[in-house]
Amino acid sequence: MHTQVNGITIAYSDQGTGLPIVFLHAFPLNRTMWATQENALSSQFRIITLDLRGHGESDAPLWRYTLDQAADDVCALLDHLAIQRALFVGLSMGGYILLAFYRKYAARMKGLILADTRAQADTAEGKDGRFQMAQIAYKKGPSAIADIMIPKLLSPATIQARPEIVQKVRAMIEGNQISGIAGDLMAMAERPDSIPLLAQITCPTQIIVGKLDQATPPSDAELMAEKIPGARITIIPNAAHLANLEQPEAFNQIVASFASDLLK
Ligand code: MLT
Repeated sequence: MHTQVNGITIAYSDQGTGLPIVFLHAFPLNRTMWATQENALSSQFRIITLDLRGHGESDAPLWRYTLDQAADDVCALLDHLAIQRALFVGLSMGGYILLAFYRKYAARMKGLILADTRAQADTAEGKDGRFQMAQIAYKKGPSAIADIMIPKLLSPATIQARPEIVQKVRAMIEGNQISGIAGDLMAMAERPDSIPLLAQITCPTQIIVGKLDQATPPSDAELMAEKIPGARITIIPNAAHLANLEQPEAFNQIVASFASDLLK
């Protein structure tokens, strides 16, 4: 399905009934990274996934991107769907956007799941890396970005033995436009430090991280769990950054159990 928000077209899926759970994908992927979650959880819950601005079937305007703007797009989609409050799940960049969303729209958040993400801003070196990657995207195209990103997103065991997952990730990355990839990199480089926000998060929060995640390692997850009042943390073995794709059963079980507890 498609709708107009904030002057652009956003593509989304809306499956099932019950507690709404909104999933925000990672950089530089799209909403189909949540296909297994959608299939497994939509018999119990209302599962909403969207292609963020710059990704998949949504528009990727050539202009400035910010995480606040992504949060505004998500809020406008909730309005369109007449959803007042939801459980939100964000993985990596999706998590950065949820921290921006919480700053602006905390009242819309019934619960929060932050997966394979971090609260810190980029270091100076990290920002420089974003700029270099944007230049590679511009000069060589999305397949060069896939070559760089796949070893950061998936564990060596997955890369070696599960070609269908590698192929799926590559197809998602290669389906994006340069304007969206560069836009995300700019938005992530400019994001503020969210550590001071963590103590103010009052909704129930679950942190998830793949034990082998090197992009946003378990130490980043532990820091968030320490600072967010009452947050739970679960570390998934045999998973790297895209824990939901590498260990879907474990990931789905954590989301389902957290969502069920929210309804008690
Ligand atoms: C992501 O998976 O969204 C990215 O690795 C996040 C980042 O580059 O900081």
